[in-house]
Amino acid sequence: MNQKSIIGSNIKIAKENLEKGSLVAIPTETVYGLAANAFDIKAVAKIFEAKNRPTFDPLIVHTDSIDKIKSWTTDFPSWAEELGKHFWAGALTLLLPRKPIIPDLVTSGLPHVAVRIPNHSLTLELLKSLDFPLAAPSANPFGYISPTTANHVFEQLGEKVSYILDGGSCQIGVESTIIGEENGQLTVFRKGGIAIEELEKVVGKLIVKEHSNSNPHSDKKELTKVASSGMLLSHYAPKIKMRLGNIEQMLKENISNNEIGILSFNKTYNQIPTQHQFVLSEKGDFSEAAQNLFSHMRELDKLNIKIILAELLPEKELGRAINDRLRRAAY
Ligand code: TXA
Ligand code: MG
Repeated sequence: MNQKSIIGSNIKIAKENLEKGSLVAIPTETVYGLAANAFDIKAVAKIFEAKNRPTFDPLIVHTDSIDKIKSWTTDFPSWAEELGKHFWAGALTLLLPRKPIIPDLVTSGLPHVAVRIPNHSLTLELLKSLDFPLAAPSANPFGYISPTTANHVFEQLGEKVSYILDGGSCQIGVESTIIGEENGQLTVFRKGGIAIEELEKVVGKLIVKEHSNSNPHSDKKELTKVASSGMLLSHYAPKIKMRLGNIEQMLKENISNNEIGILSFNKTYNQIPTQHQFVLSEKGDFSEAAQNLFSHMRELDKLNIKIILAELLPEKELGRAINDRLRRAAY
């Protein structure tokens, strides 16, 4: 397939394809999404097929207005009003009780639907022009690294999408924070692009769900028990083995330096070839680190190396979401 023919920034082409029930990759401020008409079950089924994603892993529904969200949910509680007002359009997904207009396939039969208003001008314009919302997971094969450029999407899903709407590199670079109510308490189901500290300023203390303890690969049924695939122990993962720890210490172990790739927060290491080293942010900035995270992981995954050594960031603000992705990538 000719790459140029399917990558472009023409909203009209994106809209026509979506209206036909085809898949279109869309840019958002977090990562690129693989979108289909959320009301069209056949179109939504194509998403699961293209990603090789289990159908018991539900999808986020994207739109451009709170009023539209209210028309497909049975309740829009005051916490949702507050969070929506402060953080939408933005990297926040809310779990809300759905009306039957949202198909079971989108929510995997769960009583709640995940909704988000993404903050990207091209995609907002597209969403505004459509008379249906877009179901869209990240546009990567299930379990692999999320895409943050149109080219990333093409590299992995190429022939499976009808059009890739090119909105440049994603501004945030990690997925949205997911919040819902569990046992009457506001709970974070996935750490993401909006820091928990910011959310707590608006709605007070939040419960933070960490991943389940058992290895999902040893028992696939485990997946049905976790609310969010982003909670799986292994996810967002490169193909080359990744190890997390103190890089200086790990370098003292007996591995040939030529076979090592480095993913560091802000430092480089003399003994390792420069082209094998990827620094998330030389100035130690969390936002810049998040923007670079997935593309650096992809670049490392293309190298002729045996192992990627990586380190965690300070466990605060956006560092928490980045660490969460690193831990799963290294599992
Ligand atoms: O930033 C994002 O959220 C990106 C962009 C494209 O919007 N989307 C994204 O989608 O990360 P995905 O499918 O890769 O991750 C969505 C997560 C999954 O872990 C899924 O299990 C969870 O949201 N989820 C979706 N609907 C849910 C529901 N009804 N209840 C609980 N979890 C849900
Ligand atoms: Mg994903």
